[in-house]
Amino acid sequence: MKLRDVQRLELPPSADMHVHLRQGAMMELVVPQIRRGGVDTVFVMPNLQPPITTVAQALEYKALLQAIEPRVTYLMSLFLHPSVTPSVIAEAAAAGIVGVKLYPQDMYANTHAFPPSPESTGVTTNSENGVSSFDDFAATFAAMEAHGLVLNLHGEAHGDVPAAAGSLEEAFLPTLADLHARFPRLRIVLEHCSTAGALDAVRACGPEVAATITAHHLYLTGDDSKVDPLAFCKPIPKRASDRDALLRAVVSGDPKFFFGSDSAPHPLASKRAAPPAPPPAGVFTQPVATQLVVLAVEEAAARGVVDDADADAVRARLEGFLSRHGRAFYRLPPPPPPQEAIRLERRSETVPASVGTAGALEVGVSRAGAPVFSLSWVPR
Ligand code: DOR
Ligand code: ZN
Repeated sequence: MKLRDVQRLELPPSADMHVHLRQGAMMELVVPQIRRGGVDTVFVMPNLQPPITTVAQALEYKALLQAIEPRVTYLMSLFLHPSVTPSVIAEAAAAGIVGVKLYPQDMYANTHAFPPSPESTGVTTNSENGVSSFDDFAATFAAMEAHGLVLNLHGEAHGDVPAAAGSLEEAFLPTLADLHARFPRLRIVLEHCSTAGALDAVRACGPEVAATITAHHLYLTGDDSKVDPLAFCKPIPKRASDRDALLRAVVSGDPKFFFGSDSAPHPLASKRAAPPAPPPAGVFTQPVATQLVVLAVEEAAARGVVDDADADAVRARLEGFLSRHGRAFYRLPPPPPPQEAIRLERRSETVPASVGTAGALEVGVSRAGAPVFSLSWVPR
């Protein structure tokens, strides 16, 4: 039976290894959406205002998240900064922090051009504190290697990229290879891959190097990002051929590739601000994270990009991508058998336009109106 004909599907809870949960009222709004999207474990990004650069900040943030939704496991990270020294890494490891996020420095973080151009400099929200030279961090990377912390790369070059290098992401790939060669035992995640070239670069490295793939890079292309502020994000989605390469990686069964939604909420009012004010970069998918991955795979099957003729085989590979590969890469302690599973059923549900309150804090959801499975949590 084809996946497209399956009416009901049961999966273990998804692990979303790249989320932005923000602070204050936005955090209160977003955290309860995690389980709606079928997720019980999240890797939490540290690009707050100010960024999370100390163990105390990370633990305080984790406590706030747990108070809002205690049924989710929060994996915490630090924002790479000169103050994140080898001794901070030792302290972080002892406190159970699992990763350090590297954002290339971007002086223009909050003034992205819109529509985006491939050459536009600029990386991402709150990244003006990021890294400009990797050499300064050699001792920190060595400490991470020794303590088993993961380096999470926002893999986009900063500054002007020669046209021959392609996108900002493709221009960054030699840096990935270089870091892996210099620190071969350092586990590295190339976050939110958006090109076929990035997938190949990750495959070319050893098993210490893996990559996350978002839901939205499985259905958006650069053309969507140009016209729709809700589809505008970093890295900018690329060509249809890149999207299809990402889809094939999702159902390949390769443990190097796992889910990280990069769900990045911004107030709808700021997304809709009339040009020339640029919208903030970020696509919000959290309430339908798992559902949008499954939908994208079904659409890819309809286009002939992936084969869904054996629904059981596709389900097993989706389970690897959504739930198993990320947990294995992060070496999470073997969980007790999950008490709950997620059940997906076709009940004519569609993606909601937004979450929150119109006129107050409201966040637009990507793919509003698209037909998705209804998701419920069921005891196992
Ligand atoms: O589009 C993005 N928005 N990409 C990121 O990597 C970060 C994010 C954000 O924090 O808004
Ligand atoms: Zn992100």
